[in-house]
Amino acid sequence: EFENKISELRSKIMSFPDFPKKGILFWDIFSAVADGRTCKLLQSLLVDYTKKNFPDVEAIVGLESRGFLFSFSIAAELGVSCLPVRKKGKLPGDVLSYAYELEYGSDILEIQRNHIRPGMRCVIVDDLIATGGSLNAAIHLLKSCGADVIGCFVIIELPSLKGRSKIPNGIPVHSLMKLD
Ligand code: PRP
Ligand code: MG
Repeated sequence: EFENKISELRSKIMSFPDFPKKGILFWDIFSAVADGRTCKLLQSLLVDYTKKNFPDVEAIVGLESRGFLFSFSIAAELGVSCLPVRKKGKLPGDVLSYAYELEYGSDILEIQRNHIRPGMRCVIVDDLIATGGSLNAAIHLLKSCGADVIGCFVIIELPSLKGRSKIPNGIPVHSLMKLD
């Protein structure tokens, strides 16, 4: 059943060679959610996984922008906080910044301190882990705010880019599928 759902999801994810730059193979999660049945399937996979593995989660943290598709969906279903990590200059108020390298280029991610309580149990969600720079930045930001990062959850992992090696020891990273 689970394996069938994963293969159905996999069949809907399109890839685009040389986008946005030559030599990059772009895995397009939006191609999967363009299909209504796949939206439903993906939501059930994400919600079931989170309930099973992180029953005491208090916040789902989504990474701009593709991570937002999934963070709100999971948080709404579980009735827990939905918090954003955004690219520089988008979040108002008391914001913490962290510079990181991306698969293509570099960027700065930010988080708002005001919604994070000390020890708050957070799960980070994104569509994909490539070099691991974005997830690592989000972990760093959350920890600096005093949160407890209990895990990370992505749909697609690109093992050839060794993103897991960037993630601090002791933080589980789960992916629904490995692609290359
Ligand atoms: C992509 C992807 C992940 C990140 C993974 O986002 O959605 O968030 O890169 O790469 P990494 O593991 O090497 O950090 P991108 O920054 O392109 O922006 P988007 O989600 O707004 O499209
Ligand atoms: Mg992204």
